Amino acid sequence: MDSQLLIDALSRFVHVATAITLVGGTVFMRFVLKPAADQLTPETHDQLRSFLLPRWKRFIHAGIGLFLLSGFYNYMRLMPAHKGDSLWHALVGTKILLAFAVFFLASALVGKSSAFEGLRKKRPMWLAVIVVLAFIIVGISSFVKVRGPKVPLVPANIAVPE
Ligand code: HEM
Repeated sequence: MDSQLLIDALSRFVHVATAITLVGGTVFMRFVLKPAADQLTPETHDQLRSFLLPRWKRFIHAGIGLFLLSGFYNYMRLMPAHKGDSLWHALVGTKILLAFAVFFLASALVGKSSAFEGLRKKRPMWLAVIVVLAFIIVGISSFVKVRGPKVPLVPANIAVPE
């Protein structure tokens, strides 16, 4: 098999698998685990959080790395096919900026910096914000993927064998 094709497929797989893991994990945490953990005593809840966060932090940091690696690879590979396609650039540019906002919030929530203590005090609200932003990102990504390049890959005046 063509090695370029293999790397392209691997990069897409890594990107989508990372999105499934991190977005799914955040939805689970905010809408399943948090309401269930609210039934615990405050001491047990704090204990559960202290066991959970160091593990989730590893997923967040590894996931951001994989998103950046696979995302920029996809971007470089797709750029030539979208030359002069301003809608694609505007949508993908917006998506990347939103992804950076998500990376910042997710890192602040699992981090220990006192500068972001205010964010951590409102963890449920910021987790919900991350979920909404992530869904917008997945929506934009799905649209640009399905829309494809603006210029048809096969010019109309070239006969394609049936
Ligand atoms: C919260 C973070 C992110 C999520 C949830 C996410 C999700 C997705 C999804 C679901 C797709 C569609 C994949 C497919 O159908 O094959 C995609 C495509 C893509 N992503 Fe991301 N992504 C994120 C971050 C990034 C970042 C940081 C970059 C760039 C640095 C990036 C660049 C791209 C590119 C270039 C595509 C292909 C667009 C196209 O098909 O025209 N993504 N992303």
